[in-house]
Amino acid sequence: MHVPELEDLPDPSGRRVLLRVDFNVPITDGKIDDDLRIRAALPTIQWLLERGAAIDACSHLGRPKGQPDPRYSMEPVRQRLSELAPEVNLLENLRFDPGEEGNDPAFVDKLVEGHDLYVNDAFGASHRAHASVVGPPARLPSAAGRLLAREVEVLGGLLEKPERPFVGILGGAKVSDKLAVIQALLDKVDALIIGGGMAYTFLAAQGQSVGDSLLQRDFVDTCRELLASGKRILLPTDTVAVGPDDQVETVGGDIPDGWKGFDIGPETAKVFAAEVVEAGTVLWNGPMGVFEDDRFAAGTRTLAEAVAEAKGFTVIGGGDSAAAVAKFGLEDGIDHISTGGGASLELIEKGDLPGLEALRKAPNA
Ligand code: 3PG
Ligand code: MG
Repeated sequence: MHVPELEDLPDPSGRRVLLRVDFNVPITDGKIDDDLRIRAALPTIQWLLERGAAIDACSHLGRPKGQPDPRYSMEPVRQRLSELAPEVNLLENLRFDPGEEGNDPAFVDKLVEGHDLYVNDAFGASHRAHASVVGPPARLPSAAGRLLAREVEVLGGLLEKPERPFVGILGGAKVSDKLAVIQALLDKVDALIIGGGMAYTFLAAQGQSVGDSLLQRDFVDTCRELLASGKRILLPTDTVAVGPDDQVETVGGDIPDGWKGFDIGPETAKVFAAEVVEAGTVLWNGPMGVFEDDRFAAGTRTLAEAVAEAKGFTVIGGGDSAAAVAKFGLEDGIDHISTGGGASLELIEKGDLPGLEALRKAPNA
């Protein structure tokens, strides 16, 4: 998929660039927990600085409701950025203005004012048709930054010509959030592994008892249809569950009433891992269990280790699975860790994003 890249811009020397980044990083008590998204924008920043451009970077942070809110101040990010790239000026949280999410042309005017060029390196926000994402490319010569271009190349390429077997792994709490991507992936993969809370709705569709585990009753029929699609779908065969007296045990097959599953069991983890290690391509989105709690981390850890070990090309689709890989210190074993959770899912599902469409319509595209 073609989007204009940095080389397609007019000479940036002496120009002012509006750079949309996704610096929506996790922050606890004013401290950044993970600065991956800031570091990931550095190649683009360097490229522009080396060519003599001045940079105004802009991002959203959290979900303030269209008005200034000190809890979502960019200050901690500004601090970190000043250590990594002191030349860059960082604007205040875009979502302090209702015009950002409302894609208000007057807010776009305000953003582009005083700027000669626009660069979008905010892959993680490019599924949002917000002012800073879709507005400026209609007005200024524009390009995708290095991070955005790489994400599109990897995630796009994955779907076009994957090395086989192509194994997809989906987890996370709700099957309803992932239905569209399950459908899209079933057309592409050779096997789809399903874990996490969403697996229980599939198990119920298969006629199994899931006890008190998370279950989306309204989606049991849809899961049954997906299971009947003839595609290879792997579901958990054992579960780490909490019982009526708060005891934690591994349960095989049916989960009794009063018991609630929080992780895939060791037998399942072994089967899933074996599938992953042999794959030509692996795409993973969503943890296998509540890995933030050490009692329920083993399934996600075993899968993460298998992905890191896999011979094939391995991609983590952002969000919680990226956090899990970081928690287990396995980042180096992964070929591509996406900076976008929602964005990577939407790109897989629809093959395009509003931010990419906007760039393709830029005057220099
Ligand atoms: C993300 O963290 O997924 C992106 O920064 C997008 O944030 P949003 O879901 O609040 O639009
Ligand atoms: Mg590998």
